[in-house]
Amino acid sequence: MRRTAVQPTGIERTFADHEIIVTKTDMKGLLTYANDVFLRLSVFDEEDVIGKPHNIIRHPDMPRVVFKLLWDTLREGREIFAYVVNMASDGAEYWVLAHVTPSRDASGRIIGYHSSRRRPDRAAVNAVKELYGRLRAEENRHRSPSDGLDASWRMLQEELAARGRTYEEFVFDLTLGAAGTATTTSSHAPVPGTAAGDGRRNAGPAPSADHTASPSRANAPRAGTGRVHVTTNAARHQKPIKIVRNVTSGRNA
Ligand SMILES: Cc1cc2nc3c(=O)[nH]c(=O)nc-3n(C[C@H](O)[C@H](O)[C@H](O)COP(=O)(O)O)c2cc1C
Repeated sequence: MRRTAVQPTGIERTFADHEIIVTKTDMKGLLTYANDVFLRLSVFDEEDVIGKPHNIIRHPDMPRVVFKLLWDTLREGREIFAYVVNMASDGAEYWVLAHVTPSRDASGRIIGYHSSRRRPDRAAVNAVKELYGRLRAEENRHRSPSDGLDASWRMLQEELAARGRTYEEFVFDLTLGAAGTATTTSSHAPVPGTAAGDGRRNAGPAPSADHTASPSRANAPRAGTGRVHVTTNAARHQKPIKIVRNVTSGRNA
């Protein structure tokens, strides 16, 4: 379980565009590696985190349904991109755009998980905050945690269906600066190459056999830096799809 004494201070911490926060876990989500950027942002020493559950940085504002989606996706052997707010040991928060992947051994067996996180665009964070706030409120509205999770799962599915988006596409839209606010249900033109709106779920790249390699920088959506590169494999197309768009972002964090 995560520590309970620390309360969120509401103070936001940010990190540089060129920095990547990296952690690795075993199959149960216990930390096996944390890079210096993670330790700095989270205000931990390495010995405080290795062997501990990843929820040591869980922020209470995060809807549980997002972690359900994360774990369901990973256990299916697929990657996931997700916006997450984390809480440091001093109660400060920091938003990330996380790319989480299964790590495999040479035979293809999943042996753990790997997350690399970039600094997200401010407009994307604002849109996600709004949606996550409603999901969290829905979870808290129910006395039973499992009823709350079921209700927020339904809410998330309805929100995405109204947009004609999967969660992955919703994340990519925000990263590309195309989705507007979380309450907008129009203007969701399909992103070229993502087969948007066809109900296809996350079709991530073929799993890497190299579990020690750093995740591909080229594969992570890059927010707010002028040009956005998103590379994904659509299973239907059997080849990598690269989206390159010019964006004008108002990063102000
Ligand atoms: C590779 C990997 C990275 C993760 N990164 C985070 C993270 O940055 N923040 C977080 O709160 N949970 C992260 N999680 C999810 C946690 O394991 C956990 O499910 C989440 O914090 C919810 O905890 P809870 O079930 O105790 O509420 C990660 C899990 C994995 C496998």
